[in-house]
Amino acid sequence: MSKLNVVVVSGNLGFPSKTVILAEQILEAIKQQVSIDGEILQLAELAATIGLARNPDELGESGKRVLNRIASADILVAVTPVYKGSYTGLFKHLFDFLDPKTLSEVPVILGATGGGDKHALIVEHQLRPLFSFFGALTIPAGIYASEQNFNGARFIDPVVLQRIEAAAEQAVYAAKARGERRVQAEAA
Ligand SMILES: Cc1cc2nc3c(=O)[nH]c(=O)nc-3n(C[C@H](O)[C@H](O)[C@H](O)COP(=O)(O)O)c2cc1C
Repeated sequence: MSKLNVVVVSGNLGFPSKTVILAEQILEAIKQQVSIDGEILQLAELAATIGLARNPDELGESGKRVLNRIASADILVAVTPVYKGSYTGLFKHLFDFLDPKTLSEVPVILGATGGGDKHALIVEHQLRPLFSFFGALTIPAGIYASEQNFNGARFIDPVVLQRIEAAAEQAVYAAKARGERRVQAEAA
């Protein structure tokens, strides 16, 4: 199988970002299974482009490239810091510009980082419904990681690492199955 195109959208607004580190660890876990082309799109870097646009026509070329990259994903990784119990505002603002059909049946890994465990259900109560709206194939193993799971450089908690591995395995399985279905549909 050719390389899988894995696109990360990270809702972080600051640098350095624990959410980006989580994203990197997810990409590493996927790479253990399959060869990939990976890219991390950070809202911190896209704020000027995305933040001022009121509709997709106002996005400009760089903003449109971001939407095209998301649309091209074999696996999308959607990660965000928890802000006030939910994803960051700019993370939602970006997905508000996406055509509703773009992510239909695309495997999406859901992950979040937070200050503590109080808002761990952001994955199930905020991220999963958003990507269900898009008809995405949200991966059953969601990942939540808090400050307590972090050693200053990486997330090291065994439960978090196990969730990352499970999510990567499930997403690769789903992406391969989707790829085969598309090949069969084209041949029919
Ligand atoms: C404006 C703001 C709101 C936050 N709200 C929450 C929250 O509701 N629950 C929580 O657990 N952590 C909250 N945090 C902490 C961040 O989610 C946490 O530090 C996260 O890991 C930061 O990710 P980053 O390093 O990628 O920016 C908040 C932080 C900020 C700056």
